[in-house]
Amino acid sequence: MDVFNINLTGALLRGDKDCMKVVQRRPPKTRRHHDADPDSRLGTAVTAGTPRSVGIGVIGYDGVARAHLQAILRLASVFWPPPARPVLAALSGRSADRVQEAAQRYGAPAVYTDWRRLIEDRRVELLINCGPNDLHADPCLAAAARGLHMLCEKPLARSSAEAAKMRDAAVRAGTVHMTGYNYRFVPAVLLAREMIVEGRLGQIRHFRARYCDDSMIDPDVPYTWRHNRAQAGSGVIGDLAAHAVDLARFLVGEISAVSAAARIFVDRRPRPQGGDGTVDVEDAIEAVVEFAGGAVGTLEASSMCPGRKNFLTFEVNGTLGTLIFNLERLNELEVCLQGDAVGGFRTVLVTERHHPYGGRWWPPGHLLGWEQTFVHQLHRLLTAVAGQGQAGPEGATFEDGYQCAVVCDLLDRAAHEGRRVAAAGVAPSRASGE
Ligand SMILES: NC(=O)c1ccc[n+]([C@@H]2O[C@H](COP(=O)([O-])OP(=O)(O)OC[C@H]3O[C@@H](n4cnc5c(N)ncnc54)[C@H](O)[C@@H]3O)[C@@H](O)[C@H]2O)c1
Repeated sequence: MDVFNINLTGALLRGDKDCMKVVQRRPPKTRRHHDADPDSRLGTAVTAGTPRSVGIGVIGYDGVARAHLQAILRLASVFWPPPARPVLAALSGRSADRVQEAAQRYGAPAVYTDWRRLIEDRRVELLINCGPNDLHADPCLAAAARGLHMLCEKPLARSSAEAAKMRDAAVRAGTVHMTGYNYRFVPAVLLAREMIVEGRLGQIRHFRARYCDDSMIDPDVPYTWRHNRAQAGSGVIGDLAAHAVDLARFLVGEISAVSAAARIFVDRRPRPQGGDGTVDVEDAIEAVVEFAGGAVGTLEASSMCPGRKNFLTFEVNGTLGTLIFNLERLNELEVCLQGDAVGGFRTVLVTERHHPYGGRWWPPGHLLGWEQTFVHQLHRLLTAVAGQGQAGPEGATFEDGYQCAVVCDLLDRAAHEGRRVAAAGVAPSRASGE
């Protein structure tokens, strides 16, 4: 069976208790002063000014897909009026039972076990692709051919060559495209970018980033697509370092050369269905990076760091100041500006009304979390879909996804060949004097 249309009648026939409750609910019996009008108990019909809807098809419903699905459900409660109202039109997953259950949970009217059918569904105008890395290219190429707008999770592809095909197809289609580099949408990261762009840090000399967790420490963590080069393209390079590379490009600019060392610390893992799988992607990478603008820096990524959970941190040093960010404390930005009477770091809580996305959610000091970045990201995407702005530079386009994939390829090559590798077409430059 390939498609299931979910409707109230079907749910009632199956005896779904929640649906029965909805149908049995009645308006209160008590008379109110407006009961003279027989229709008044139904409330006022909403007609004028309703924003146009955009039907969204989502590949995947677990893992990061849950964050996208929550963003679809929450967006209009935060951004009103929305540039376009996101409407979940269809879900795709491999297991018929599980995708059915997910559709009931999130309110999708159709589900498909074959993602091709989701892309053909006429209700779908925007594809959100949350599949594993080997399921990024084919659905996005098919979606571009159908003229759909697209958000594809990161890394855009398993290699820069694959990413280039996706970027080219999206550009040919002329639709809106975004790569899921959601950390661009953390208010503190946007504040850091604003300060850098305004020149408040002076000339940037260093960018140091680390993305560490402890998710692979246990050798009994099962073997999945993430451990297989054919499916994932790379290990922590595409999984974690790609986020740091994207932030490096977002905050400082293009990377022109890299030198790196990588390690596989656990080379066999148990397969859920029995037996072992061979891990052929790196668990950790340490790299030196050179920026076209003259700055130098380091990038580290590892899933082998006890105690680190989602430790994406960066430090930017300029001639006039330093900024420090840590995703595990994502509402804060540490700021040190030369000449500041404080003479050291101050921790800024980035929740004031004048901060990026300030006042959009809650009053100052009422903290945001990881999931809010997906709502901000979807809002930017829908703004572009509605023709009210561009996906970039705040959002990462497929061009950004491609450029990031180029750097990920460089990191992989530099680590394998044990040497410094320069990017073709990006002129390495020596730091210029102030
Ligand atoms: N932006 C972020 O912060 C972030 C976080 C986690 C993962 N990701 C990226 O998202 C992608 C998915 O990662 P994940 O951690 O959610 O992985 P996962 O393995 O937990 O989930 C993969 C999803 O793909 C679906 N899927 C697999 N094969 C499918 C098929 N043939 N048809 C339809 N659906 C299929 C599964 O049902 C599942 O929902 C990866 O590219 C990953 O790098 C991004």
